[in-house]
Amino acid sequence: MKEINSLVVVGAQWGDEGKGKVIDYLAAGADTVTRFQGGNNAGHTVVYGANIFKLHHVPSGILNPGTLCLLGNGMVVNPLVLVRELEELEKRSIDTSNLFISEKAHLILTYHQALDEENEKRLGNDKIGTTGRGIGPAYADKALRRGLRAAEMVDFELFSRRLAEILPLQNLILREVYGHSGFNLEEMLDLYRPAFERLAPMVSDTGLLLARDLNSGKKVLFEGAQGALLDIDHGTYPYVTSSSTVSAAAASGTGIGMAGIRRALGVLKAYTTRVGEGPFPTEEREEAGDFLRERGNEFGTTTGRPRRCGWFDAVIARYAARINGLTGLAVTKLDVLSGLETVNLATSYRCGGSLIDELPGNLDQLVHCEPVYEVFPGWDEDISRATQKSDLPGAAISYLNALEEAVGVKVELISVGPDRAQTIVTQPSTLNSWIG
Ligand code: IMP
Repeated sequence: MKEINSLVVVGAQWGDEGKGKVIDYLAAGADTVTRFQGGNNAGHTVVYGANIFKLHHVPSGILNPGTLCLLGNGMVVNPLVLVRELEELEKRSIDTSNLFISEKAHLILTYHQALDEENEKRLGNDKIGTTGRGIGPAYADKALRRGLRAAEMVDFELFSRRLAEILPLQNLILREVYGHSGFNLEEMLDLYRPAFERLAPMVSDTGLLLARDLNSGKKVLFEGAQGALLDIDHGTYPYVTSSSTVSAAAASGTGIGMAGIRRALGVLKAYTTRVGEGPFPTEEREEAGDFLRERGNEFGTTTGRPRRCGWFDAVIARYAARINGLTGLAVTKLDVLSGLETVNLATSYRCGGSLIDELPGNLDQLVHCEPVYEVFPGWDEDISRATQKSDLPGAAISYLNALEEAVGVKVELISVGPDRAQTIVTQPSTLNSWIG
């Protein structure tokens, strides 16, 4: 067995940290890119030359010919959306023949999306602010042991039988609880038949494919979706997604042992954003927030919703580093901060009269926490062409160094624009073996 050469890339805030760009950059050197949780609630925008790709299920590695791309068992997959994504890629001559779906991944079906939307409506002002993609109901069905899985896409007879068993219950809930009209079995079968024909050849034992690559020393990249603070266990519950988003989930969400995970790179924006409801201590509701939203184009890839924006929060970043076992940081969108007179960085919180520098164990307390800021001088220079850290203005370097010190993990990668070329790997770096 050769030495394991794997890297997990995870979001270390509330999602939308720019993981797609970082993963795309690192995927150029990877043999395999695997997603291990979430579904099409994720939206990665990858800019490659004049092309902009919006990926929801498909790992960013798909843009590199020859890279094996896997959708792991921890994912929930919407077959109709996945087919559209494949068509979009193929239209632009991207080869998708190296993409495989775990037979154990669960399916997001029409009623999951309807249940998600109806439940949000019912919650009114208390809504979670989900992406409305049916993620929660699909994971709930998985936990209730009544989900349908990708394996069933290969055997349409079996799928039809199982759907016929489960649909009356889903319709009962939809009709009786939510007043929704429900779904017709024959119409659903007609809807899914062509999609399953397209996807069935891609259904595979992805855990085995992955183990073979890992054990033969290939470079294996795990692509996280969402972020640490949206984790079902460790996030700001209930304002979270329904899967485990931390690095350890890469093991259970793909079916490899924990020895398969060597390093974890946490992706963070140089500031903070959040979509949906829930606590966000460093949120800026006025001028600074507007500046970050406009300059950073902070509108959701999946839903188009404006993102809530605020300053970098080292308290949540330290927490994310701990729960993920981060071995390095990737700081994205540093260029967005150019033009600010001063830049704030929260190093601790004031909660109920006391100063704390760790995230409260009871995350409900976060709504009562006020950030305590260190204030840094800003910079005006356009930094989007910097190719090494020393090209950056002194003020930007000081800010980055303070961020690194406050989080306690080395910044290994800095992104100064959406293009692959606008990426700085700080030296020396453990990432060299990936990009070299
Ligand atoms: P769900 O994952 O659609 O159930 O949404 C639950 C929460 O996670 C909501 O606050 C969403 O806005 C958030 N969320 C889900 N996926 C993403 C993502 O890819 N980026 C940022 N937030 C997300």
